[in-house]
Amino acid sequence: MQKNILITGGSSGIGEGIARHFYAKGWQVLITGRNTTRLANLAHELPGLHTLEYDSLKDNQENHIFQFIKDNWDGRLDVLVNNAGHVAISPLQALNRETMEEMYRVTLIGPSLLTGGCVPFLSQTKGQVINVTSSHGIKAFPELSAYGSAKAGLNMLTSIWALELAPKGIRVNAIAPGPTHTPVLENAGFSAEIIQAIQQSEKNTNPLQRRGNVQDIVANAALLIDSGSTWVTGIIFPVDGGISIS
Ligand SMILES: NC(=O)c1ccc[n+]([C@@H]2O[C@H](COP(=O)([O-])OP(=O)(O)OC[C@H]3O[C@@H](n4cnc5c(N)ncnc54)[C@H](OP(=O)(O)O)[C@@H]3O)[C@@H](O)[C@H]2O)c1
Repeated sequence: MQKNILITGGSSGIGEGIARHFYAKGWQVLITGRNTTRLANLAHELPGLHTLEYDSLKDNQENHIFQFIKDNWDGRLDVLVNNAGHVAISPLQALNRETMEEMYRVTLIGPSLLTGGCVPFLSQTKGQVINVTSSHGIKAFPELSAYGSAKAGLNMLTSIWALELAPKGIRVNAIAPGPTHTPVLENAGFSAEIIQAIQQSEKNTNPLQRRGNVQDIVANAALLIDSGSTWVTGIIFPVDGGISIS
């Protein structure tokens, strides 16, 4: 039977990697993003890939995703990957309301509303939810108040949803990447010099002495999604070279 996967933030980095993986396996893939040029380029390169604009900083953005699943997939969804996100680094004293609100909207509020609305679709398939969290939601670092607390919150939502949705046969797990080569730091607006300093420090402090690449995360997300691990729910799976236990 046809398998349907929805990946938020599928227009770049880790989400794009997961989308390409399941597209290559013949799944029906719907990705969301805000960058319409990037979405159009991917749809052109991968015929049959579905794309929708979705910005979780705005209200009621989930509705057209729900409508797409009803209209195109008969209301059936096998996998929802809550991946969209951005990073913010700020000393506590410089934190402002906007930084905190935007982080909680994209990391906690958007995924909560989207997942809630997808429950009827996931119930039909006894499907699963994968939340892309972060090693920063497990291990504390200075100046990551917004990002670290939001990702820790998404880890907790993973446990809550796993318990709540288990009676419907829906599994919920999280993958918690460590520092991974994607455009995330460029997208956060850091200068090339700062990015280089962050990346060097991330490499030096990692037990396996390297940053991750998208394939490291995709391979392990695919393990959770499609390797027969049907009795696994509520786990936070660190894929981080050991940084979260160092
Ligand atoms: N790279 C890392 O080191 C790392 C480590 C741990 C966890 N993660 C997590 O992995 C996930 C993917 O990050 P990435 O590294 O692949 O970053 P990325 O390349 O910057 O991709 C982020 C994706 O999220 C989308 N997005 C951002 N803000 C959004 C919003 N307000 N509404 C809807 N979509 C939004 C972006 O869409 P547009 O570009 O179209 O706007 C893009 O598709 C994030 O949740 C991130 O926190 C990354």
